[in-house]
Amino acid sequence: MRSRKVQVMVIGFFIMWTFITYYVLLRTSNAQLSRKQQQQLKRLVPEALAEQSKGLQLTRNLIEFLKYKYSSNEQPGTTTTTPRISIVAAEISNEIPAPESGVKATAESKSTPSQIPTQTHLANGEPVIPILVFACNRVSVVKCLDNLVQYRPSVEQFPIIVSQDCGDVLTKEAIQTFGKQLTLIEQPDLSDIVVLPKEKKFKGYYKISRHYGWALNTTFQIGFDFVVIVEDDLNVAPDFFEYFLATHKLLKQDPSLWCVSAWNDNGKANVVDTTRPDLLYRTDFFPGLGWMLTKELWQELSVKWPKSFWDDWIRHPEQRKDRVCIRPEISRTRTFGKIGVSNGLFFDKYLKHIKLSEDFVQFSKINMSYLLKDNYDKAFLKQVYVLPLVTFDELRRNLIALDGPVRIQYNNRDQYKRITRMLGLMDDFKSGVPRTAYHGIVSFYYNKRRVHLAPNANWKGYDLSWS
Ligand SMILES: *[C@@H]1O[C@H](CO)[C@@H](O)[C@H](O)[C@H]1NC(C)=O
Ligand SMILES: *[C@@H]1O[C@H](CO)[C@@H](O)[C@H](O)[C@H]1NC(C)=O
Repeated sequence: MRSRKVQVMVIGFFIMWTFITYYVLLRTSNAQLSRKQQQQLKRLVPEALAEQSKGLQLTRNLIEFLKYKYSSNEQPGTTTTTPRISIVAAEISNEIPAPESGVKATAESKSTPSQIPTQTHLANGEPVIPILVFACNRVSVVKCLDNLVQYRPSVEQFPIIVSQDCGDVLTKEAIQTFGKQLTLIEQPDLSDIVVLPKEKKFKGYYKISRHYGWALNTTFQIGFDFVVIVEDDLNVAPDFFEYFLATHKLLKQDPSLWCVSAWNDNGKANVVDTTRPDLLYRTDFFPGLGWMLTKELWQELSVKWPKSFWDDWIRHPEQRKDRVCIRPEISRTRTFGKIGVSNGLFFDKYLKHIKLSEDFVQFSKINMSYLLKDNYDKAFLKQVYVLPLVTFDELRRNLIALDGPVRIQYNNRDQYKRITRMLGLMDDFKSGVPRTAYHGIVSFYYNKRRVHLAPNANWKGYDLSWS
């Protein structure tokens, strides 16, 4: 009984406050204002509402914080001295409606049911490949969608499905401005996720994982053979669609392949060969960031999909099972967003320097069979180990007499880290695999030549303890 009263009071207060603000705005404007100004004011109201909901969220966060702070300070046996504020905080926080569920009600009442296109193949037998875009509460998703819509060669073959989590109304409205150019689906379970107190700062990753699981299940249920995943902070290159169109056959053909990614982790302009936008590689490292998977892979992963950190999970040997991805020399995606769950500093130092390919490569006209395991391993591995071996110092000081590709050797983890740092490459490992590596070999471009940073020739596999 009592809790209902408080709830009604809190909600009532916010509604009243909104109306008073609105009224005061109208009143102070009134007759003296031109029609145009009045319209401007009207447009401000939804923004004010949005600000208000942000305010609510802040209040909630503050209360959560207070609750956590006071409850974690509690010593056994001292519960009677629990500061009164934490009791009050606990009480109020239970009364404030969760922002997600509050928004959800309005979102549902307004939404028109949207249908994912059900055609899985074109008349000529080619697969329909949906582009599944993950959105939450960033209005900047329109930058990503603009790109996709602009470069899409066929609406029929590449339906764009935007899956929205978080129930953010402004983001939803921004997505809806694209009308029939895309399909919007909404992750229905906006409930809070209960995590251990020390995991709280990772809650975003739990939600992302839940969202991925739901959206991929929902999309693959239609019967598509392939899906391309795009996140809401990615720009795509002009030949993004062409790239996936030409590589999807490889995924079916070669069981050692499990993804095609548009991303090069070492894709900074100064370490790629800008004259070779057509060049593709195999990599043991799962790059993500604009990637295609098959129905069969999703069937395998969906039944054990993790609660959080899906990308690190997928890189684990238990999931990867020695399978590899295709990645380009020059990235076909580039991330523009720095706000969110990933690290802003990392964006400034690194991600924003990744070069987005500007050329249109007609991948469909290129013979891709060099990327199949047997062909690639024969040619690539052999080629790398017959190249002249130089030291890092010779490379850096440009002391190599001959032209053409070379090899540098690394023998241990620290040496690998030191060399990559000095070259401005990524120096980290996931499940023991260095970014972009294939059989331990990291290939890049430096001082106008191809360089392969490679372990010694009798390499025995990745070492899980390298991390
Ligand atoms: C996807 O659907 C399958 C079959 O209904 C279910 O077993 C699985 O748990 C679902 N996975 C996720 C991540 O929702
Ligand atoms: C593609 O290249 C492979 C060698 O990598 C060759 O065996 C095959 O005949 C080529 N296919 C076509 C259609 O040219």
